[in-house]
Amino acid sequence: MKAAVIHGPRNVSYDTVDDPKLKDKRDIILKVTATAICGSDLHIYSGGIPQPRPMVLGHEFMGIVEEVGSEVKNLKRGDRVVVPFPIACGTCFFCNQHLPGHCENSNPEHYGPEGGLLTEKGGALFGYTDLYGGYDGGQAEYVRVPYADYGPRVVPDNLSDEQVLFLTDIFPTGYTGVDWGEVKGGETVAIFGAGPVGIMAAKSAWLRGAGRVVIVDTLQYRLDKAKQAAKCETILWEDGAKEVVEQIRAMTQGRGADVCIEAVGFEPARNMLEKAKAVINFEAGSPKVVEACMSAVRRGGIVSILGVYPTTYDNFPLGQLFDKGIIMKGGQAPAHKHIDKLLQYVKEGKVVLDDIITHRLPLSQIAHGYDIFKKKEDNCVKVVLDPWAK
Ligand SMILES: NC(=O)c1ccc[n+]([C@@H]2O[C@H](COP(=O)([O-])OP(=O)(O)OC[C@H]3O[C@@H](n4cnc5c(N)ncnc54)[C@H](O)[C@@H]3O)[C@@H](O)[C@H]2O)c1
Ligand SMILES: [Zn+2]
Ligand SMILES: [Zn+2]
Repeated sequence: MKAAVIHGPRNVSYDTVDDPKLKDKRDIILKVTATAICGSDLHIYSGGIPQPRPMVLGHEFMGIVEEVGSEVKNLKRGDRVVVPFPIACGTCFFCNQHLPGHCENSNPEHYGPEGGLLTEKGGALFGYTDLYGGYDGGQAEYVRVPYADYGPRVVPDNLSDEQVLFLTDIFPTGYTGVDWGEVKGGETVAIFGAGPVGIMAAKSAWLRGAGRVVIVDTLQYRLDKAKQAAKCETILWEDGAKEVVEQIRAMTQGRGADVCIEAVGFEPARNMLEKAKAVINFEAGSPKVVEACMSAVRRGGIVSILGVYPTTYDNFPLGQLFDKGIIMKGGQAPAHKHIDKLLQYVKEGKVVLDDIITHRLPLSQIAHGYDIFKKKEDNCVKVVLDPWAK
């Protein structure tokens, strides 16, 4: 079959690879009909999250069930499903607590209680490095889906692939940001990063009754898209965090936002000094956006960290966290926990997801897709790929 394979930093190609096969009675083989590139894929693409051997990428995908393992009773050949991005068994200690990203069974080689980039990981993800389980991903014609009686959800025929595809990751992830933020109604929610995840967080904040939603980005075209797709206020991060924080405080009687959601990750736009500091401190990227969130949140407020952070960071402002009484939550989003409720919102027309798509490409143009998404060229916000289009 054909698939998107990473060979090293900034090197993704459209290759012929072996067809996936059923390996376990709980597996299915899915014929992928739509797949997308995620900001998380960009961390592998940049080399920031290392993957030494070639691997089929992609954790945002959906399709038609092609083959069914003998223990999968809830699906049949021909069903059309979306697949949550964490690979989780559904029966372990953490799965039972709706924490699929911490599944104890899906990542036996690298699982452990310590956590950290090159040490012990949580559960597995599709197409997301050997450390995260080494499973092939769904930027491909076909993909093997383990524990298929737990993850995949059948979607209604009257909704197009594009209308439901983002239930795999970015919508549940954005929703998780406001859920961790305990948004109940009336709050001011400030979101850092107007990429796909940040925009989905903004849509989710409205669904949970936020009073005010403001989104921050270094790129004006991303803010324009956020305004159009999520009707939020916008702040352009031009010079530094200070000006942004001042604007957020000015909007909130000087206090700061009730909830700040970090949707940028460890590779924000950085100057030379920040890059040099990272090298000296053995840090990957910079935690500057988390720090901005800690300044922009009010006392007693909540910071949700959706963006990926792989290493330790020096000078972390623990004193500020303590003095302000900030609550901080982060991690891989528990997509399984929210997907059914969120699918219902889509069915009811309470939320529209596909208005962030800017590029539709055949999978054969995957290298171009990664290139423009990484460089933020051609007003790219979200790339969706069709493995079968020529
Ligand atoms: N926690 C999870 O389960 C989960 C799931 C999906 C994605 N993610 C992570 O979320 C992050 C965002 O993903 P995405 O798909 O939206 O990626 P993206 O790269 O498209 O979006 C990031 C946005 O941040 C902006 N940005 C850069 N520097 C900034 C700054 N200083 N201040 C404000 N904005 C800045 C960029 O211009 C861009 O618009 C990534 O780190 C990704 O890995 C996490
Ligand atoms: Zn993702
Ligand atoms: Zn589990």
